[in-house]
Amino acid sequence: MKFFLDTANLEQIREGAALGIIDGVTTNPSLMAREGIEGQEAVEAHYRRICEIVDGDVSAEVLSTDYDGMIAEGTALAALHPHIVVKVPCTEAGIRAIRYFADHGIRTNCTLIFTVGQAVLAAKAGASYVSPFVGRLDDISEDGIGLVSSIVETFGTYGYDKDCQVLAASIRHTRHIIECMEVGADVATCPLKAILGLLRHPLTDKGLEQFVRDSEKLR
Ligand code: E4P
Repeated sequence: MKFFLDTANLEQIREGAALGIIDGVTTNPSLMAREGIEGQEAVEAHYRRICEIVDGDVSAEVLSTDYDGMIAEGTALAALHPHIVVKVPCTEAGIRAIRYFADHGIRTNCTLIFTVGQAVLAAKAGASYVSPFVGRLDDISEDGIGLVSSIVETFGTYGYDKDCQVLAASIRHTRHIIECMEVGADVATCPLKAILGLLRHPLTDKGLEQFVRDSEKLR
C-alpha cells in the first residue's frame, strides 16, 4: 500500500519525506488555510514547494464548484508541476470536469466520496484516484473502512482497479491504516503521527533498552 501524507505543513512533509517511505501528499482547502496561505500566487508557490520535497503525486484541490471554474483552475494547477493531481469534489460538475481532465491527460483525485456509487461514477469518468473519507463516516457512526472495502471489491469486479486507485482519506489513527491494508486500499493518506504510530511497540522499546544496556559490556 502507498502512504501519502495528508497535510500542507512543509515541516511535516520534510520530516515524512526524510523517512523515505512517503509516496505522495494530499491537501485540501482547509489544510492550506491552516498554514496561513493566502491568494493564488502564494497557493501556487506552496504547491510547487511541496512537489519539490516529495517524489510522488501531490493532490491540489480546485476551489471552484462550477464546471468552467474547475476546468480553468485544474488546468492551471496541473501546469504547475508534473506531480500535481487535480482534486475535484464528487458532484455533477466535478464528474464532468474529471471526464474533461481525463480526455486532456490531466490526472484527478475525486474527493468527498461517501458511497460506492459515487466512487464508481468517478472511476467511469476517468479519475486516477477516488478518496473515500473513512474518519468522517466513523464520526457519524457509519462504517468508513467498510466503504473502502466495498469500493475495492466493486472496482475488482468491474475492472475499474486497472485505472483508478482507491485512496483512503480522513484517516484518524494508526488502526485505520492497518485496516486499510487489510481491505486492500491502494493508498492511505494519513497524518504523520498516525504513520509514526505504526513503529511504536512497548516490546521494541524494552528490547532496545536491554540491548543498549548490554552493549556497554561489549565496548
Ligand atoms: C484528503 O484527501 C482529505 O481531504 C482529508 O483526508 C480529509 O480529512 P479530515 O476528515 O480529517 O478533514
